[in-house]
Amino acid sequence: TSRMQPMDCSEIKITKADKLKPMPELNTLQFGKEFTDHMLIMKWNKDNGWNKPEIVPFGNLSMHPASSVFHYSFECFEGMKAYKDANGVPRLFRPIRNAERMLNTGRRISLPDFDPNQLVEGIKKFVDLESRWVPQERGYSLYIRPTFIGTDSALGVHDVGNAMLFVIASPVGPYYKSGFKAVKLCCSENIVRAWPGGSGHYKLGGNYAPSVVPAREAGKKGFAQILWLYGEEDYVTEVGTMNCFTVWINKNGEKEIITAPLDGMILPGVTRASVLDIARERLAPQGWKITEGKYSMKDVAQAANEGRLLEVFGSGTAALVSPVKAIQYRGKEFSIPLPAGKEAGPITEQISNWILDIQYGKEPNHPWSVPV
Ligand code: COI
Repeated sequence: TSRMQPMDCSEIKITKADKLKPMPELNTLQFGKEFTDHMLIMKWNKDNGWNKPEIVPFGNLSMHPASSVFHYSFECFEGMKAYKDANGVPRLFRPIRNAERMLNTGRRISLPDFDPNQLVEGIKKFVDLESRWVPQERGYSLYIRPTFIGTDSALGVHDVGNAMLFVIASPVGPYYKSGFKAVKLCCSENIVRAWPGGSGHYKLGGNYAPSVVPAREAGKKGFAQILWLYGEEDYVTEVGTMNCFTVWINKNGEKEIITAPLDGMILPGVTRASVLDIARERLAPQGWKITEGKYSMKDVAQAANEGRLLEVFGSGTAALVSPVKAIQYRGKEFSIPLPAGKEAGPITEQISNWILDIQYGKEPNHPWSVPV
């Protein structure tokens, strides 16, 4: 059908806000509460394809109450960040990965295809327009939230015929104000986050809502996050909304950094991939074994008992890395040693600094850092 328009961000219709918002003080920022002056909106329907993208003043959306996003969770999202380099240029971090993942997640829930390069192009133009909102200070960034929804105004459960992809952005500070803050975890017991054949490995909004009540219950007992286990073996899968890495001396006596494999239960994190890539490049030559493989909480507990457990951390776009200091498992607390006066172990800190240097353009011409 020749009338079907592909997504095309080579030209974006821009309607600027009449009045720009005052810039918030950096140290008052709370995650995802303040938004920039504009938003990028692209609409699709099955007869015409993608309309011409528009950047409009940030504001409420007006939607039909039967819109499929409200009823059957036709929704997926991405999280990415723009960082400002020393020359004041905003830089995206591996943005094509987010765009490709959004395409892939959208396909799972019948949302339409697009060229991921076009989404990156649109986000670049949007961030360029909002450049003043990208903080320069290390630890601060502009969090970008592409969101993709079904907008059919009918209650039947069927393929998506109308959709909208919009992008909003929020200036954010470091997840923990005073640098790292190591957290305590408790293991999931009767609740399963994801399972084989399920959709836990997609960035669907529907995967996140059911995690909040268990997390609240864990919080009441003094745990910051849940360590999501799976199956009889108690395989370690994810932590809170992040991927999970364990640093240990494994049963064979090797120095190893391990994370669960992408077996259909694990969100394919961009930070996860970056931790693995950088560890393979820079730590493997120092004798570290870097593994994507199944390992269980029983293994972790045994390693802790035998003094082989070195570090555990979550990885994600929001916090980059989140060090863990203890894990409650089957009524016992297993603690993870931290260097005196520190909230993160040396591997966690080293990997975090390497990635931050790339994100802020301190490592010149790194291919992961894409100037807008
Ligand atoms: C992240 O760690 O980047 C996340 O996935 C959290 C996000 C849902 C706020």
